[in-house]
Amino acid sequence: MKAIILSGGKGTRLRPLTYTGAKQLVPVANKPILWYGIEAIVAAGITDIGIIISPETGQEVKTKTGNGDRFGAKISYILQDKPAGLAHAVKVAQPFLGDSPFLMYLGDNLVQSDLHLFCEQFTTRNLDALTLLCSVENPSAFGVAKVDDDGRVLQLVEKPKVPPSNLALVGIYLFSNAVHHAIASIQPSARGELEITDAIQYLIDQPKKVEARQLEGWWLDTGKKDDLLEANRIILDTCLQAAVGGEVDEQSQVIGRVQIGSGSKIVNCTIRGPVTIGSNCHLENCFIGPYSSVADQVTLIDADLEHSVILQGAKVVGIHQRVVDSVIGQRAQLKEAPQRPKALRFMIGDDSQIELV
Ligand code: DAU
Repeated sequence: MKAIILSGGKGTRLRPLTYTGAKQLVPVANKPILWYGIEAIVAAGITDIGIIISPETGQEVKTKTGNGDRFGAKISYILQDKPAGLAHAVKVAQPFLGDSPFLMYLGDNLVQSDLHLFCEQFTTRNLDALTLLCSVENPSAFGVAKVDDDGRVLQLVEKPKVPPSNLALVGIYLFSNAVHHAIASIQPSARGELEITDAIQYLIDQPKKVEARQLEGWWLDTGKKDDLLEANRIILDTCLQAAVGGEVDEQSQVIGRVQIGSGSKIVNCTIRGPVTIGSNCHLENCFIGPYSSVADQVTLIDADLEHSVILQGAKVVGIHQRVVDSVIGQRAQLKEAPQRPKALRFMIGDDSQIELV
């Protein structure tokens, strides 16, 4: 079996955090969202992976992710010249896929699920499509499925005004080669995209064997600030392993599960895990509270933070009020607060500079 990960698209949903960067590369607990997907696919035993990229962000995805060696996989990159829909991406990937059955994974999703089990059921039940579902409060924001008691999918609709159920498509699908004929037979939707939901509906109408399973673990959509912080919290809670690299001086206290990358200097700080700090950071006179992720090359001096994500190269200096529930973009700078507001809450995009005077 092969896999494709869709990492193209326009990336508009994480604005203003990333206007130009790939949303699939935004880190959660200091690891790009995309990489969690690659790891889950490799853990399911699939190592031949095609990543769909766009002309705008493709090079960034490629440079960061590499040829797959670091994951024990072989990664091929497949350029989709415009974001013309999920089914269009499969069409573009057809030369890579050939006649192989394949797993399709949306690269901006973060899912806790054993994909191995899912693949096994697809194969043993000889299905043409298997989709993963999760019950949600706002089904209209997703593709929605109606299923019978045996898990057979009866109907699929993309972002319906009146949803037929509260079961959203999670963004993980398995297909036999029958999907290529289905894609060749459908027309673009009202929003001008070739929809994978329409292709699956075509398979249902044939009728081909299309089933769904409900997700047992969590599913996080990282599109907004609070979702990103929640994803960060859950990953730090469930996956972080303590590993203190870098230099930690004697005045500093490191408590609980804390990860510190190589080349980082920690001077007179208290760090209370779960916390991850990247490499080549400089932290001095800081309190870093639980559920914080600090990316590489970050400088934090005279700063207190908790439940926050600080992206690569950002600088926070002289902020004595605790920074909470905040996301600070790459290279953003936050300096000096001579007065003392009670709390600070931020959503600061890449390249911002903020001085509280
Ligand atoms: O998140 C789950 C939802 O994902 C499903 O419930 C929907 O049925 C499905 O259509 C999809 O909806 P989104 O609106 O979230 O899709 P989005 O445009 O964000 O694209 C999902 C991923 O696929 C993202 O990593 C970008 C990539 N993509 C998207 C398009 C339209 C491509 O690589 N090429 C494309 O043409």
